[in-house]
Amino acid sequence: MANYDIKDPSLSPQGKLRIDWASQEMPVLNRIRERFAQEKPLKGIPVSACLHVTTETANLVLTLKEGGAQVVLCAANPLSTKDDVASALVEYGIPTYATKGEDSKTYYQHILATLKHHPRLTMDDGADLVTTLHKEHPKLVTNVIGGTEETTTGVIRLKNMERDGKLKYPIIAVNEARTKRFFDNRYGTGQSTIDGITRATNILWAGKKVVVCGYGWCGKGVARRAQGLGARVIIAEVNSIAALEAIMDGYQVMPLLEAAKMGDVFITATGNTNVIDGQHLREMKDGAILANAGHFNVEINIPGLEQLAQSKRQIRPFVDEYTLEDERRLYLLAEGRVVNLAVAEGHPASVMDMSFANQALCIEYLAKRQQRLEPKVYPVPEEIDTEVGRLKLMSMNITIDSLTDEQKKYLQSWEAGT
Ligand code: NAI
Repeated sequence: MANYDIKDPSLSPQGKLRIDWASQEMPVLNRIRERFAQEKPLKGIPVSACLHVTTETANLVLTLKEGGAQVVLCAANPLSTKDDVASALVEYGIPTYATKGEDSKTYYQHILATLKHHPRLTMDDGADLVTTLHKEHPKLVTNVIGGTEETTTGVIRLKNMERDGKLKYPIIAVNEARTKRFFDNRYGTGQSTIDGITRATNILWAGKKVVVCGYGWCGKGVARRAQGLGARVIIAEVNSIAALEAIMDGYQVMPLLEAAKMGDVFITATGNTNVIDGQHLREMKDGAILANAGHFNVEINIPGLEQLAQSKRQIRPFVDEYTLEDERRLYLLAEGRVVNLAVAEGHPASVMDMSFANQALCIEYLAKRQQRLEPKVYPVPEEIDTEVGRLKLMSMNITIDSLTDEQKKYLQSWEAGT
């Protein structure tokens, strides 16, 4: 394989324009980029990144390159790549291995191609790169100083590796930063998931019964945005506290088996497997739409749906119509893959500004450390998280109050009561 694999180099001019457009909404990352250009904190360090190949990711990897890193990039999902962005990145000197719609074999070949660059740092979204590196190239692992992980599912997998004694280098869980998950997972996934489903189907949300599976950070955002468009939202959860939160936020809560009979649109955002299973599919109304916002395409039992169906046809781009024995039709969007990235453009740049500022600063933090950290999953250092929040507010021209000396003292004391 050449030192890149993209769909069509002629798409590059369009990709460059779209990267510039996103950059305008990424003031925090741009500041970091300017500093990196002067200080070169990543000089000569090979970084292998497995991220969704979007305009925002392009701005992140260009920031690292500006800091002196030798970055290579592959896709974190077979359907999330923007081919014009991949072409532009190759022209900008970033070896990129990503084609939208690549099959599973090519997806892993692309990950392996980025590992041939012998990374000293890794950036992952979902932990496919880290697990492939550990399984296929155990010798290369010793070369790695550390890595970062972008999403909830990846953090869960890496913590499981740590528990089993299998994780061989330290990883910072960028997802755990408040300036990441409070905003990216909630407002980013909320808006872009609705955007993806709308682009795929052009449905009217007002009056629809929308069933959201999982009321975590992503589910909260999706539910709120669907409600804002006039949908009647039902939440299905397995966690009692998340379910309580959903009730008090004003939604109906019930087991999915009950909701299955009522929903017009079903959206999974759990990070779990077979959440919408055969038993639920059997109960659904004619015309029900199924979409997934979770990281992997395992949340809807697609093999189960295939089994139940008598026929299948693609009725619109990203919409597969499954006709069941009794002639009910169910519509699966984007083959059950992250609908916001597969059909729409993923999260808006303004929210990725914070996620990727955390990524850039965590990579710098790992590169600058004198001593290698223990092979564990670490939270984002508090000072990085707080700084990203401060810079974002500043970029929005919003000022806030600060504590007086008296208040600081009061908050540190215990003597004073009523
Ligand atoms: P979270 O941990 O905050 O929430 C997940 C929720 O799902 C929890 O409340 C859990 O109790 C619930 N859940 C688990 N199994 C369930 C089941 N069988 N039925 C109903 N509820 C169930 O996780 P977060 O941050 O909301 O992420 C969810 C998924 O979305 C992950 O796979 C994550 O990687 C992915 N993600 C996707 C993004 C995108 O762009 N589409 C962006 C950020 C995260």
